[in-house]
Amino acid sequence: MKILAIETSCDETSVAILDFKEDLNFEVLSHKLQSQMDKHAEYGGVYPSLAKREHQLLLPILTKEALQESNLLTDKLIEESKLEGLKEMLEREEILFEGIKKDLNKEIKDIDAIAVTNGPGLAPALWVGVNFAKALSTMWNIPIIPVNHMEGHIVVSYMKENKIVKPEYPVLSLLVSGGHTELILSKKEGEYIKIGRTLDDAAGEAFDKTARLIGLRYPGGPKISARAKIARENNYKEDIKLPRPMLKEDSFNFSYSGLKTSVRNFLEKETDPSQERLDYLAKEFEDAVVETLITKTKKAIEEYSPKTLVIGGGVSANEHLRKSFQELIKLYEEITLLLPDVKMSTDNSIMIAIAGYLNKDKQVTAENLKAQPNLSL
Ligand code: KG4
Ligand code: ZN
Repeated sequence: MKILAIETSCDETSVAILDFKEDLNFEVLSHKLQSQMDKHAEYGGVYPSLAKREHQLLLPILTKEALQESNLLTDKLIEESKLEGLKEMLEREEILFEGIKKDLNKEIKDIDAIAVTNGPGLAPALWVGVNFAKALSTMWNIPIIPVNHMEGHIVVSYMKENKIVKPEYPVLSLLVSGGHTELILSKKEGEYIKIGRTLDDAAGEAFDKTARLIGLRYPGGPKISARAKIARENNYKEDIKLPRPMLKEDSFNFSYSGLKTSVRNFLEKETDPSQERLDYLAKEFEDAVVETLITKTKKAIEEYSPKTLVIGGGVSANEHLRKSFQELIKLYEEITLLLPDVKMSTDNSIMIAIAGYLNKDKQVTAENLKAQPNLSL
């Protein structure tokens, strides 16, 4: 089954074509990913109307390249009237409409479904991907599989080279991204019960906001992590202590906005800290985030006795977090830890294709698809 997957929930535009076999082996025929991060960095975070514009410009081009690379684009032109018929559907995405007419005005071979992220995410960004999927579905007569972005972050960990290896249940998933920090329990495939969440900022958001306070550009996660690494490697010792929020609370919830406030308070008191002190501050911040994630996950492990622990979302690319969870899991012989490949931790469309394949029975037609910015697992 060949799936064309589309991801536009935030500031990465990504298109992939994967060919899945019944035995869960698959081949990545093409994977295109273009980050808009540098463009958004000037605004200090994701700027919605810029994201909307960039997704519209990039999707037709990346899709054309992906189809060509997979040898699935024919020379046969689509009838002009069919293309004009998409105009109404794309009335709010004029740039996208022009791009489709220019780059995708040909028939294709052999795609069985379009998997598209329909939520959660930034509304204007999601809508571009969703309307693009609707247009392609109408133009090429292919069904759509709506995909929950967060499910994508979970199931991408099931990828072992070119095979989907289904996990042993129950599965406990810790999702840590720019918009989410959640603990999810799955007693069986496709079931997701939220047992904990952040009450304010998400972990990735805390990284990004703290980075900004320290003077590091968006996206802050990798930059704070690099600073913290310097402090760790050089064994810096400074008298800086940040709080570990929610540790004493009897729940699986998180809270990260206070941490950012503590960093701000520190910087208001110390207006000219040395580089060494700033690097140590980054390390202390990273320690505080990771410690709270570990403690709440451990608590959930003890309550629910999972057989598999999945860590997913952009923050799972963090080296200190990865090492800390690898240490934690040594305490539990019966649990398998699944961490996504670092390159698959942040947003991409391979994860959307995999989630799409696992939901291949939930196909919809273009009329029944809509973006759901607040979609929950
Ligand atoms: O999953 P993702 O790519 O997008 C969302 O769905 O939100 O996650 C992006 C988040 C950003 O906040 C980014 O700063 C964070 O993941 N991130 C990291 C690292 N790489 C990305 N945070 C900490 N350490 C990293 N190495
Ligand atoms: Zn994400």
